[in-house]
Amino acid sequence: MKVIWRLKSLNKYNNWMFKLAIAILFLGFVFRFFFYRSTSFEPNLETPFVDSTEWSKEPVSSVEIPKPPQPVTVDTLGPPLAGDIPKPPASVNTSEASLSADVREHEDETPQAEPNDGKCDLFTGDWIPNPSGPMYTNASCSLIEGHQNCMRNGRTDSGYLFWRWNPRDCELPPFDAQRFLEVMRNKRWALIGDSISRNHVQSLLCILSTVEQAVEVYHDEEYKSKRWHFPSYNFTISTIWSPFLVKAAIFEDNNGVSTTEVQLHLDKLDTNWTNLYQSFDYMIVSTGKWFLKAAIYHENDTAVGCHICPGKNLTEKGFVFAYEKALRYAMNFIATSKHEGLIFFRTSTPDHFENGEWHNGGNCTKTTPAKEGEIELKDLNKILRNVELTEFEKASAKAAENGVNLKLLDFTNLLLSRPDGHPGPYRQFHPFAQDKNAKVQNDCLHWCLPGPIDYWNDVIMEMAVNG
Ligand SMILES: *[C@@H]1O[C@H](CO)[C@@H](O)[C@H](O)[C@H]1NC(C)=O
Ligand SMILES: *[C@@H]1O[C@H](CO)[C@@H](O)[C@H](O)[C@H]1NC(C)=O
Ligand SMILES: *[C@@H]1O[C@H](CO)[C@@H](O)[C@H](O)[C@H]1NC(C)=O
Ligand SMILES: *[C@@H]1O[C@H](CO)[C@@H](O)[C@H](O)[C@H]1NC(C)=O
Ligand SMILES: *[C@@H]1O[C@H](CO)[C@@H](O)[C@H](O)[C@H]1NC(C)=O
Ligand SMILES: *[C@@H]1O[C@H](CO)[C@@H](O)[C@H](O)[C@H]1NC(C)=O
Ligand SMILES: *[C@@H]1O[C@H](CO)[C@@H](O)[C@H](O)[C@H]1NC(C)=O
Repeated sequence: MKVIWRLKSLNKYNNWMFKLAIAILFLGFVFRFFFYRSTSFEPNLETPFVDSTEWSKEPVSSVEIPKPPQPVTVDTLGPPLAGDIPKPPASVNTSEASLSADVREHEDETPQAEPNDGKCDLFTGDWIPNPSGPMYTNASCSLIEGHQNCMRNGRTDSGYLFWRWNPRDCELPPFDAQRFLEVMRNKRWALIGDSISRNHVQSLLCILSTVEQAVEVYHDEEYKSKRWHFPSYNFTISTIWSPFLVKAAIFEDNNGVSTTEVQLHLDKLDTNWTNLYQSFDYMIVSTGKWFLKAAIYHENDTAVGCHICPGKNLTEKGFVFAYEKALRYAMNFIATSKHEGLIFFRTSTPDHFENGEWHNGGNCTKTTPAKEGEIELKDLNKILRNVELTEFEKASAKAAENGVNLKLLDFTNLLLSRPDGHPGPYRQFHPFAQDKNAKVQNDCLHWCLPGPIDYWNDVIMEMAVNG
């Protein structure tokens, strides 16, 4: 029961943490059960955040853009065809006042993000009606992964597309793709992390592709890490698959089914990202949910404990033990790296499973941003975020001493009020085509594209270009 001791020692937690820790252990066992008995499950029952290789099944995206890319200006491209973007439904209550009040309510419940360089706080704000809708659609962007392509997959409501993020105390101009590309001429970006990073990279690519088509120039064998080039701007974006940031041996097939625990080396960084680290001008680094999995923890090449490994004669350390160590190590590498660009550390993202979790029928059925009192950050998300904010704080001080430009992206508040932005059952193509009562697995963790995470880019542009 080390995990409990460990959690209790995190002074911020009270009595409820104790019960929570037990709950987590149980949840862990459920995970394990699921993974081990998985042969009896449908292959598509992957955990949404295990996120396997939808891309590997769809290498088409590279094939889909065979033409030599034609630089096109926003003007000549024009807005997406009228038919592409659904109109805001009349039912969207566009009373700003009501929503603002709702979100303000939540603010007291969640810790605040660090203000941006003493300037206004871009992470505290409200979702306000945005009648012009998203900058791209499933028809105008060919880079949307199947599981997140809610429009193509037949999601019927469209109200969730007509909101934009509006920080409370500052102006946040909408993302300007043309300007972004001009500023980023000859620069290299990388988004490093798990499937949420990949979710984000698609959003950024889709928005930038309204100015110039991205050309895929690299993918690894498993189509997990990729690189795209914008020829007219000599601008490069990479997505680097490194769900733990530290070295890990993952035994998982394409359906996210594990055959055994992850072997996690808490004192060795994953070379997938460290080898390329100095070649990037801008990076967004993140991790999170994968640490909840069953794993054997190694230090100095010796097993020092585990998370969920009954019968292994190893001490249960709890995932917080591993998360703190791994994150500290990764952040320390960054803070002492002599990197001259701009590095963002992004906190992990909240999910909105209701009536259960991903593996037992949890769903997310809302179609508008959250109302007062509707959403509270889940305990598991709180624990991850607290570790992240603590380790960021420490690294931030060290980075400043070393002249490393490290900034925090904490989209927790922004996302918490968007339970309507997930694919839900529409992670699959027309899930109810055969049977309108079909039982399908829901994804309440990733985000529809277009969708709320498009507005991350507004914030990022403000910090990277104007900040
Ligand atoms: C919209 O919200 C306002 C303020 O809460 C409320 O007075 C009004 O009845 C709502 N309208 C609809 C159509 O729900
Ligand atoms: C885009 O989604 C619409 C439904 O909203 C669908 O009719 C259309 O075929 C999709 N187009 C592509 C290219 O996926
Ligand atoms: C393109 O950008 C890279 C850096 O990202 C630079 O090394 C290279 O020289 C640039 N190419 C041209 C043609 O400017
Ligand atoms: C590094 O990338 C490869 C290829 O995408 C992947 O199989 C491997 O799991 C990654 N390493 C880690 C530690 O995640
Ligand atoms: C790491 O392991 C090696 C060989 O097992 C041992 O010689 C060394 O002292 C260990 N280092 C630490 C810091 O424990
Ligand atoms: C379990 O580990 C302890 C300490 O490493 C060792 O003394 C004991 O023999 C092990 N038990 C089994 C059944 O392997
Ligand atoms: C969501 O899950 C609950 C509980 O399982 C169920 O009653 C409800 O019908 C589900 N909603 C949808 C739209 O699937």
